[in-house]
Amino acid sequence: MSEDKREDTEQDKWDRSRVKSANREFYDAISGHYEQVDGRRSDTLKRWLRLTLEDLRAKAPGGVLLDIGAGGGVVTSCAEGLFNLRIGLDISQKILAAHSASFDHGVTADVDYLPVSDASVDVITCFATLHHLYSFDSLSSEIARALKPGGIFYSDHDMDATFYDRFKILLAIYRKINNAKAAYKSVCGVIDDELYDLSEWGQDGIDSGALIGNLDSLGFSVEPVFHWYGLGRVTDILFGQKARSKRWAPLVSIRAVKRR
Ligand SMILES: C[S@@+](CC[C@H](N)C(=O)[O-])C[C@H]1O[C@@H](n2cnc3c(N)ncnc32)[C@H](O)[C@@H]1O
Repeated sequence: MSEDKREDTEQDKWDRSRVKSANREFYDAISGHYEQVDGRRSDTLKRWLRLTLEDLRAKAPGGVLLDIGAGGGVVTSCAEGLFNLRIGLDISQKILAAHSASFDHGVTADVDYLPVSDASVDVITCFATLHHLYSFDSLSSEIARALKPGGIFYSDHDMDATFYDRFKILLAIYRKINNAKAAYKSVCGVIDDELYDLSEWGQDGIDSGALIGNLDSLGFSVEPVFHWYGLGRVTDILFGQKARSKRWAPLVSIRAVKRR
């Protein structure tokens, strides 16, 4: 199941660096308005996230949480009182600064190079962030290095490419109506089509199998779940929290436990 490892071409290196720069620029620019424009912060989503974090804390070896791609800190704020230390890590210094009350410690860094010691973290979370990354190779190795044995990686709320490929026409119509790109552009003049598309590198779905394969080969027990929960009131009512096959649900949730 592991992803075919090949050397980066010059084009890969160039694209990887452009995607990172675009994310830094995009989230620096939107830092003061992110929570307002994103609009996914329903109380239902926060309650569900809190329950998920309670479960992770109960199963983790200790109380250090590292949230990568922390953004406005929705994960770390939902984790308040559950962990001894909540670290928010993001490539955008400005978005961390604008939401510093949401975590105990903010770190400006790239997920490909986590500035933490080996085996020092109990839970790593990554919410709605995988689709902003160029690839998952370095991220997977860094997760394996940073987590303690028994530590847990949890990622959620990115769309799998299988679902996108199957429903791309319907999704294109949905995106025309619910136009996130236009919403970001209207709030922030720096954001144009190119910056948005580069920052949303995986907007047409992520290859979750590649990440799962990487983690599996690095000694994790990995459980993927495909679901609809937390997108909005209508889909919450229609689909609930039920796990489905990846052909029938957009969101991929991954829990990976580092084997002892
Ligand atoms: C869609 S936001 C999600 C933020 C938050 N997790 C949430 O759910 O609201 C994606 C975040 O990932 C960050 N990001 C993108 N690429 C990154 C990278 N290579 N390293 C660290 N953070 C990155 C962005 O700056 C942004 O804050």
